Amino acid sequence: MPPYAGRRMPRIRQVPAHGGRQTSTIVRDLAYLTRLHREPSPLLLELEQHGLREGIPIVDRAAGRFLSVLVHCMQANRVLELGTAYGYSTLWMAQALPSAGRIWTIDPDMHRTEIAASYFRRAGLEERIEIINQPALEVLEWFPQRNLDIVFIDAIKTEYPAYLDAVVPLLKRSGLVVVDNLLWGGRAAASPRSSDDADTVALRAFSRTFLNYPDLDATIVPIGDGIGIGARVN
Ligand SMILES: C[S@@+](CC[C@H](N)C(=O)[O-])C[C@H]1O[C@@H](n2cnc3c(N)ncnc32)[C@H](O)[C@@H]1O
Repeated sequence: MPPYAGRRMPRIRQVPAHGGRQTSTIVRDLAYLTRLHREPSPLLLELEQHGLREGIPIVDRAAGRFLSVLVHCMQANRVLELGTAYGYSTLWMAQALPSAGRIWTIDPDMHRTEIAASYFRRAGLEERIEIINQPALEVLEWFPQRNLDIVFIDAIKTEYPAYLDAVVPLLKRSGLVVVDNLLWGGRAAASPRSSDDADTVALRAFSRTFLNYPDLDATIVPIGDGIGIGARVN
């Protein structure tokens, strides 16, 4: 007998796929959550403003918080990041590291990573963060670390599939691969067009690959610009 036999079926709230009401609810919910959370540390706030002022693409604050919680709950000692920029996401993770923790962060742009390093010094965390100034795919050919707790991917979008193949074997069992920008400012979910740019096309294909990756238990959550999170299962 079905569990609701003889009783009224519970009403399932249907959320329309499109429509102004849904959009305004999401905007209001996000504004509410922004007000609800306490502010990041003054240094993170300064770095966030620095990045935004100079048009540096950094993770959304909500994504930074999410990374911080992941590092805390996993007591992650060994973190690899692809795409440092000014070190905003790095600093969110570094502030959550246990005392023996270490982050390797890769970005070929030396100007950006010098700025990142200045923030790491000011946070007193420079000893725990190693910056590698080379393209990620080159580094991943010789990178000697294994049993990583978390790999955070936030570099060249069209290279995401190659990053994924290279980093999953570096994770410990149940280690996490976390990927930014899978919603790509609304472009990923928009109806595909022949005029779509290469990043949008690549990210759509990547998300399908990611969610069906044989060695991962993976999902994508609408935090910030869309975060993929996958745990290594094999
Ligand atoms: C989106 S930004 C990273 C933002 C950073 N994760 C944050 O939230 O603060 C992407 C970075 O990838 C870097 N990048 C470009 N080519 C790269 C490559 N081949 N390997 C690794 N990083 C690369 C760019 O210099 C840029 O700083």
